[in-house]
Amino acid sequence: MIQMVNLKKQLEGIREEVIAAVTEVLESTHYVLGPRVREFEKKVAAYCGVSDAVGVASGTDALHLSLAALGVGRGDEVITTPFTFFSTVEAILYAGATPVFVDIEPGTFNIDAGKIEEKITPKTKAILPVHMFGYPADMAAVMDIAQRHKLAVIEDCAQAFGASIGGKRVGSFGTAGCFSFYPSKNLGACGDGGMVTVGDTSLADKLRMLRNHGSAGTYIHERVGYNSRLDELQAAILIVKFKHIDAYNDMRIKNAGIYDGLLAERVACPARRQGFTHVYHQYTISSPIRDEIKKKLGEAEVASTVYYPIPLHLQDALKFLGHKKGDFKVAEQAADEVLSLPMYPELEENEIGRIAEIVISV
Ligand SMILES: Cc1ncc(COP(=O)(O)O)c(C=O)c1O
Repeated sequence: MIQMVNLKKQLEGIREEVIAAVTEVLESTHYVLGPRVREFEKKVAAYCGVSDAVGVASGTDALHLSLAALGVGRGDEVITTPFTFFSTVEAILYAGATPVFVDIEPGTFNIDAGKIEEKITPKTKAILPVHMFGYPADMAAVMDIAQRHKLAVIEDCAQAFGASIGGKRVGSFGTAGCFSFYPSKNLGACGDGGMVTVGDTSLADKLRMLRNHGSAGTYIHERVGYNSRLDELQAAILIVKFKHIDAYNDMRIKNAGIYDGLLAERVACPARRQGFTHVYHQYTISSPIRDEIKKKLGEAEVASTVYYPIPLHLQDALKFLGHKKGDFKVAEQAADEVLSLPMYPELEENEIGRIAEIVISV
């Protein structure tokens, strides 16, 4: 069986380091908001080229707390994409704001910046682009619109640790960058975890307060906050994996190149733009006969996944937003045609060859 992700293979290369890091935390008995969280925050801030990074309990919380820290709430609108994981929109709703969808561009699966301005109203407070599958959204266009309309930008970087445009990392373009360390992410913990990157220390202080019950000092609460802390065990494991992140991303890029070489003439492969570095959290093809390809792969014991079969504007949970089929046609077509193939650093060339052969045979 070729799986979508093989964390066992990753563990093989770092087992001793991970066990030593975990043991050290256990022995220290300092389990929450300690030195490893601070060390990991510093490393991520430096890597992304921002002043601060704040560890939180998940990528969803990173988004929610960023919106809350920026004062986005009831009566406000946040512009985002309908082609993303559900939690992007959950976070907007947790903050009490209303998600306003803008369709995606054909090919990149990212928000179509050319369609954002027509959705801006006096209630719009922020734009929330998602770097889908590890490919950066068109941040030059998004930032230009945001600056002209004085809007905050919250980047959903959950799938894109290390992705960049012109050498500038995602998470450093907007007002806040939100990362997920869910185990299957390209930088994944052994449980849940998240991080917010910001270029403004007073915003970082607000986030630190919000993640810890609105508390700036022990048992002194400035506002009602949340319990959303990255724990020391996850931070210690993430510090180990972080040492290898560039190598892991390079291996993903190399694997994507092999897929591209075998598939590009037969099926729509992931987009590439000059200067944009895709980190291939997913390698996602598109085809009108996607379901047949998926079936054949399954018969040959090759995993494949449809991220995402139903765009958010057509999800039952979001019916109250009043959308119907046809409202965001590019996202709907993507939902009908996308298929993500196995992708992880240790995936072997002969395995990619086997997968590509099956795709081409269909
Ligand atoms: C695009 C996107 N946004 C947000 C999240 C939420 O991250 P988490 O699962 O850590 O809450 C995820 C991942 O699951 C994601 O893929």
